[in-house]
Amino acid sequence: MVTETYKARTVEQANVGGHVLEVKNLCVHYHTPRGPVQAVNGVSFFLRSGERLGLVGESGSGKSTTALSLMRLLQAPAVIEGGEVWLDGKELLGLSEEEMRRTRFADIALIPQGAMNSLNPMMKVGEQLRDTMRAHRATDTRATIDTRIHTVLASVDLAADVMEAYPHELSGGMKQRVCIAMGILLSPKVIIADEPTSALDVVVQRQVMETLGRVQKELGAAVILVGHDMGLMAQFVDRIGVMYGGKLVELSPVRDIFKDPLHPYTQLLIGSLPTLNSREIFKGIPGLTPSLLAPPPGCMFHPRCPKVMEHCAVEIPPLQEIKPDRWVACHLY
Ligand SMILES: Nc1ncnc2c1ncn2[C@@H]1O[C@H](COP(=O)(O)OP(=O)(O)O)[C@@H](O)[C@H]1O
Ligand code: SF4
Ligand SMILES: [Mg+2]
Repeated sequence: MVTETYKARTVEQANVGGHVLEVKNLCVHYHTPRGPVQAVNGVSFFLRSGERLGLVGESGSGKSTTALSLMRLLQAPAVIEGGEVWLDGKELLGLSEEEMRRTRFADIALIPQGAMNSLNPMMKVGEQLRDTMRAHRATDTRATIDTRIHTVLASVDLAADVMEAYPHELSGGMKQRVCIAMGILLSPKVIIADEPTSALDVVVQRQVMETLGRVQKELGAAVILVGHDMGLMAQFVDRIGVMYGGKLVELSPVRDIFKDPLHPYTQLLIGSLPTLNSREIFKGIPGLTPSLLAPPPGCMFHPRCPKVMEHCAVEIPPLQEIKPDRWVACHLY
């Protein structure tokens, strides 16, 4: 009997078009007085259109830095040191500031971490939504703009009268809905939501996620959901990407990652969850997270890995597809 072996691919080989978003070898450093903090260290992945991808990882693993890089919203001392971000055939890192400004919200939108606290406290909600619209649709009349805003508010279950409210007059859940409304105002192809529900209580969390899921389907947009609530991830996303020390160490369909995690780090994480459907918070595993000022050589996880081998401390394992749609960066495979 002939058994076929699966030919492993790298993400670069898989990133050959047909995806709404392709990130290639993204590297971001924060230039601090103590040296460069290598917050994102060669991250590559792709997003299929309409797909929901979850990005999980311990605090400090580079999730928000990745999200902000895709939008080119990083601030000093952060520098994008290298890589490519292809959005529907357009490379974002090479665009001029003006082209990028036009791309934000219209093609790719971010609901940033702590978004609801980033609303301007001095400005009515309606004015903030109008500003976002006007920045892209300078020739639209006020009536056209308001009609669109009313439609979007209705789709996130907010009444039109929130337009007259100041942010402090709204509950946390309502403010988060305003931020989702802002994100979808211009019907982007990709929505990135960075921990959109972390400040909300459990009941409101679920409602906000339902809303996000529904508007995403209506738009046919793809979503990157950054978070650390594994229960929420299990229910919401199609695939999960696991970040460790600024690298993506595994990328797999959500079912597979719970049933058969490949990377030793993912295995420890999944093993530490008491039940898959409990609302477990992603706390990470015992031991120190790697210093991003002086990352360990070879595999970032080797100082903590129960399956460490000699060459793990020397050779960096590339992220490879070892079975269809199962990507892992580990020398065991
Ligand atoms: N302004 C900054 N200056 C220096 N280091 C930073 C700054 N912002 C983030 N970092 C570092 O970059 C790494 C990644 O941070 P972040 O992307 O916020 O992670 P996550 O969202 O996964 O918690 C962390 O080690 C963090 O300490
Ligand atoms: S490459 Fe080696 S150290 Fe890294 S996760 Fe795999 S077995 Fe562990
Ligand atoms: Mg973060």
